[in-house]
Amino acid sequence: MSDPIPTDRLGSTVLRAPERERAGSIAEAVRAGLSAVPKRLPPVLFYDHVGSQLFEQICLLPEYYVTRTERRILQRNASTVATCLPQDLCLIELGCGSAEKTEILLRALVEAGHRTRYLACDVSEPALMRTVARLRAHLPTLDVVPILGDFEFAIAHAKRLAHGECVWVFLGSSLGNFQPDSAVRFLATLRATDPVGLILGIDMVKPARILHAAYDDAAGVTAAFNRNVLTRINRELDADFVPHLFTHCALYRPEHQRIEMHLVSQADQTVRVNRLQRSFDFARGETIHTENSRKYTDQDLRRLAAAAGFAPRERWADDDGWFSVCLWTSH
Ligand code: TRP
Repeated sequence: MSDPIPTDRLGSTVLRAPERERAGSIAEAVRAGLSAVPKRLPPVLFYDHVGSQLFEQICLLPEYYVTRTERRILQRNASTVATCLPQDLCLIELGCGSAEKTEILLRALVEAGHRTRYLACDVSEPALMRTVARLRAHLPTLDVVPILGDFEFAIAHAKRLAHGECVWVFLGSSLGNFQPDSAVRFLATLRATDPVGLILGIDMVKPARILHAAYDDAAGVTAAFNRNVLTRINRELDADFVPHLFTHCALYRPEHQRIEMHLVSQADQTVRVNRLQRSFDFARGETIHTENSRKYTDQDLRRLAAAAGFAPRERWADDDGWFSVCLWTSH
């Protein structure tokens, strides 16, 4: 990986992954994913400019309980969370998006007099810049530093910008988007940076009908979000997907404790991806697997923490036990 280029934006430094590296990794991920059997695409592709906005709309949907449940847990417990954290600290959030829920915790820290630096990491530049500007306006004494890049980039470079004791923040049940073994590996790489802890927002196992509604809403926003991946590939890799020839499908698999997101081809078709100099055939009914969202039990969480080298210290949940915000420490 070449050195990141710090650039000046909004009067402060942005740490950003080099453009060529980002474009190259997208092309490679699409080539590998569409050549695989069954076909798949990595979830990081969802979050371009349009996708990040669609995701913000998902978070407001009546069916998508995830965001509002996590927000309520943070509203109720932010001051308690703050008392568990060091006076002088650096919160590093992976995939901050709008950071609307993180702001609740950041405000509690500022109000309790913690000296706090916040490293906000995201792959969508417009979303990141909006978030940073809003947080600086709302919380002028907070020290906010944006990092533009994927998780790997952020994990490799964030520590250089940290001061005080580090706490990783990973909300929105994004960990559920990893396969169980890569979730352990991923958390172990966070643990290897020697943080004081990790704040993890995680969605819990619940009845399938609630999950199906949350991941296939009546207004079709989630379907648009899923299909946007194809529009993005058309634009960035000069491909000719017809997005409406693929339908959104969300299916809960209890044996894996996960809801799967697919795009199902509605016809036998061939798609040309010019920048890869390749064509890909799709049979009618063939799917592209775009996402998993794994749901956890309390026991899964305890095992996961142990496997990654963390000690579970606190878990805050809503009254229904639908979602958890966990604080894990390194010792
Ligand atoms: N991290 C979110 C989740 O698992 C991402 C997400 C929400 C998502 N809705 C989606 C991903 C629909 C793909 C399709 O809940």
